[in-house]
Amino acid sequence: MTAATEQKVSLGTLIKERVDALARFSEDPENLTRLYLTPAHLSAAEAVKDWMRGAGMTARIDAIGNVVGRYEGRAPGAPALLTGSHIDTVRDAGAYDGNLGVALPIACIGELHAQDERLPFAVEVIAFGDEEGVRFPTTLSGSRAIAGTFDPSVLALKDEAGVTLADALRAFGSDPDSVVGEARRREDVLAFVEVHIEQGPVLEDAGLPVGVVTAISGAGRFTIEVGGVAGHAGTLPMGLRRDALAGAAEMLLAIERRAGGSEGLVATAGCLEVSPGAANVVPGRVQFTLDIRAPDDSLRYAAFDNIRDTIEAIARHRNLALAIEEFHEARAVACAPALMMQLEGAIKRCGQRPLRLPSGAGHDAMAMAALCPVAMLFLRCGGGVSHNPAESVTPEDVDVAAQVFLDFLRHFRPLELST
Ligand code: HGY
Ligand code: MN
Ligand code: MN
Repeated sequence: MTAATEQKVSLGTLIKERVDALARFSEDPENLTRLYLTPAHLSAAEAVKDWMRGAGMTARIDAIGNVVGRYEGRAPGAPALLTGSHIDTVRDAGAYDGNLGVALPIACIGELHAQDERLPFAVEVIAFGDEEGVRFPTTLSGSRAIAGTFDPSVLALKDEAGVTLADALRAFGSDPDSVVGEARRREDVLAFVEVHIEQGPVLEDAGLPVGVVTAISGAGRFTIEVGGVAGHAGTLPMGLRRDALAGAAEMLLAIERRAGGSEGLVATAGCLEVSPGAANVVPGRVQFTLDIRAPDDSLRYAAFDNIRDTIEAIARHRNLALAIEEFHEARAVACAPALMMQLEGAIKRCGQRPLRLPSGAGHDAMAMAALCPVAMLFLRCGGGVSHNPAESVTPEDVDVAAQVFLDFLRHFRPLELST
């Protein structure tokens, strides 16, 4: 793989073309769906490994399925600045969520390599495999393993086909027994800086190509099961029904009302299963998911308490059973001010106006914050659309982000040394 300078195309064009090409690795021929530890994920991981090696990096797939590339500094074995993002996707995804934050730093390192330029520190690019948390009822497995916060009990979690995470790792060629060993020592890591599309409309609204993230909203994810009694749609009088779906519907509207009542709070029911699921049967059981987020954890916790009280009251009133189980929680994370200022310095040197903005979306940086200071560089995306095949970026904006990131690398000062 050659650097943009040798190909005489902009770095932005090179990066966008690579990400567009990566989108061919999907388990669905009709759309981009690349779940953790699937054959599509392995193909994408191998392509990323090739990009890394073409940029003068060593590259390997680690025990949890991350692709880890390393570009040594002037002295071998120096502490590393970590960067990267995820290459797993949601179902029917856009091409740039996560993937751009892997291709961009690799291409920037390719520029350094083409000029035989070494930095006072190493740079590691990590393509995390499980940020979206679609296949297994957990998420951030790859970044938690690197950060040393991986909970081995998740290895027993199963996907919809009943495959455990441990068995899926073995089938992928990774090793569940070695995951804990992937944790980085704090002294070997300087910081983690992630480049990611904004997935929101703020930069586009401000007319800016890039921005600096201030904080990442905390999130809680729950499965909520509503139990009623299945019955004959033709013979069961309305007043005698214990209709699980009608009860769930009342709960969902109450959740929407509560979330709309607090600035910055969002709540989403993304999945809903109805059983037995026949047109002539009163639903006896419903399961739905609840994803609730806010920039402030206390606001999120208070809102969840209100929601829980409300849906319990609806269940009592309708004589329905209710079970609520949390399967994911990530606390809100503040980005390191000193890193944010260094990113802003790079943005200014590249002739752009820096803008600070929060992230409503979750990222691997949330998990990496347990290891080291973190920061994020956001890139404008068309209409702020994401988790949708209409997700888009322009080569020009990608080029700005790449130039900013390259400048950031060349001026990066480890935090204890920065003024
Ligand atoms: O859900 C999120 O915020 C992220 O895209 N996984
Ligand atoms: Mn996403
Ligand atoms: Mn993402």
